[in-house]
This record gives sequence, C-alpha cells and structure tokens, in this order.
Amino acid sequence: MLAMSEKIDISIEFSKLKLASPVFVASGTCGYADELADFMDINQLGGVITKSITLKPRKGNDTPRVVETDSGMLNAIGWANVGLDKFIEEKIPIIEKLKVPVFVNIAGETISEYAAVVERLSAEKSIAGFELNISCPNVEKGGISFGTEPGQVKEVTSAVKKACGEKVLIVKLAPAVTDISVIAQAAVEAGADALSLINTFTAMVIDIEKRRPVLANKTGGLSGPAIKPIAVYLVNKVYNEVTKERGIPILGLGGIRTASDAIEFIIAGATAVAVGTANFVEPNCTIKIIEGIKKYCAGHNITNMKELVELP
Ligand SMILES: Cc1cc2nc3c(=O)[nH]c(=O)nc-3n(C[C@H](O)[C@H](O)[C@H](O)COP(=O)(O)O)c2cc1C
Repeated sequence: MLAMSEKIDISIEFSKLKLASPVFVASGTCGYADELADFMDINQLGGVITKSITLKPRKGNDTPRVVETDSGMLNAIGWANVGLDKFIEEKIPIIEKLKVPVFVNIAGETISEYAAVVERLSAEKSIAGFELNISCPNVEKGGISFGTEPGQVKEVTSAVKKACGEKVLIVKLAPAVTDISVIAQAAVEAGADALSLINTFTAMVIDIEKRRPVLANKTGGLSGPAIKPIAVYLVNKVYNEVTKERGIPILGLGGIRTASDAIEFIIAGATAVAVGTANFVEPNCTIKIIEGIKKYCAGHNITNMKELVELP
C-alpha cells in the first residue's frame, strides 16, 4: 500500500503551464539542464532552469570565482557559457530528450542582445519558457544594471516579451534595490508572466594574509542559507503588493535546502520554489524536498498547494 504522502498530488499551475511539482532547480546550479539527471529522477521537478545563455560564448571571470562563506557562498562566474549557436547545436538535442519543462535563462549586455537570443529560441518546442536575468551582480555590462531602474526593466521585459512568442516569460529580480515592488510592478506591466526572486547579493570576502579579496573579480554574489530570511520577506512583499491581485506566480528562491525552507516560501506567497546552492552540497536534495512537501501536506490535510498560502 502507498504511504499517505505518496498519494498527495503536489502539481501546480504556473502561468499557463501545469507542472508536476512546485520544485525547480535554479539557474547556474544545474548546467544546461541534464547535469543532475545522474543523481535523481529529474522528471519529478516542476522545472529546470539553465545557466545564463548569451548571444556569443563567454569564458566568464578569472579564477578564483567561488568561495565558501558562513552559511553560504560567493560566486562571480560572469556568465561563462557556450553561447547561443553551440547551445542550439549541442544542448537542445539533450533538452529534447527530457520530459521535465526546461526554462532557458537569458542574459545580455544590451536589450537587443536579450531579444535576439529569445527570438532564436522561441520556436524551439523543447523549451517551456525563459527566465530573464536582469539581476546578475557579477558582470561589467548588462546584468543587474537592467534590473534596478523601473524604466529599464520595462524596456527589456517588453522587448523580450515581443520576441518570446507563446512561451512563458519569468523575470528574475535583484534583491538589493530600494523597493523591490516597484521593480516587480514594472516587469509585470511590461508583460512578465511570472517573477523569480531572488538573485544573489553583491558581497566580498577578504584573505587577510594576502590583504586582498579572495575572488579575482573582488566581489561576488552571496547565495545559500544566509540569504533565506531576506528572500522569504521579499517574496511576501512582492506577493502582497504586486502579484496576488493579478494572479501572477512567483518562483521563490534563496537559501532553500529543506522541505520546511520551501514551505516557508510557499506560505509567503510563492507558487513554486527553486533550489540553487544546496544542489552543490546534496545533488538530490530537490527530491527530498518534494517528498518532504508531500509529507507536510499529508500531515496538515492539505490537498492543493494553493491552500498553503496563508500569510496576510
Ligand atoms: C555558482 C552559481 C552560479 C549561478 N549562475 C547563475 C546564472 O547563470 N544566472 C542566474 O540568473 N542566476 C545564477 N545564480 C543565482 C541562482 O540562480 C540563485 O538566484 C541564487 O543563488 C539564490 O539561490 P540559492 O541561495 O538557492 O543558491 C547562480 C548561483 C550560483 C551559486
């Protein structure tokens, strides 16, 4: 006989998509989509988000580009990726074989670069949607500079929305802004189908013997458990102030390691959650999180994920 929790259906509606579960793997922590397939059944995931793809290949920043911190890590990868042509040639055939919905994370130095990448990928049947990275703190041009000013957010979001056809467009927000709701509102008004929050916080670690920053880039993005309470707060703020009334889903992320972390985000207003840094510590943690959510639902008489969102 199946345990009670195994019978629980935790599928969700995410914009126009029906997803098997509310748990995604986050951009930059699962390669081009199938890297975690050896460790688990990735079809149980709600979605997989690729690392950022740019029009031209990028080698990324000099090393060292990651360093561990108390309760987290800093990364300054700098969008290292194979570029659009190679992504289409080498990675799309792999993605075509996957059943799990794959979202391609898009980055660029100019608005036309973002739009060009999306336009070329918009006809790819194997892609469920796009995540627009306008919140990366680790590049000189582009990235976070598009995500901190509402006018720019509108411009880049509407250009990409025009290019993405019928595919779902998620806009990924930066946490270190004066009022994240103003940015969220701009993205939604320009056509975002969903929002993901949060990306990392710019931070620095210093080697006191060398008396210089550990990372070659000097600064990097802080992720992991250290940022979780801030992420939960920002998800709840954007949910109450922007998305709840409009029925726009939030993909919540930042420091999620366990089912209870994920449930916190869902109670705060997230429709789905993504796991990033924790994949490096425990590559199959998302499957444990899915099992834990089912157990929690079974123990609390919850039959639909929507019943979990309770906060005012
Ligand atoms: C090594 C590493 C690489 C990342 N690369 C990307 C990326 O290419 N594009 C992006 O939008 N976010 C990237 N991120 C940010 C994560 O997707 C996520 O927003 C952030 O790490 C917070 O979640 P976490 O605390 O669960 O890791 C990266 C994070 C890490 C740790």
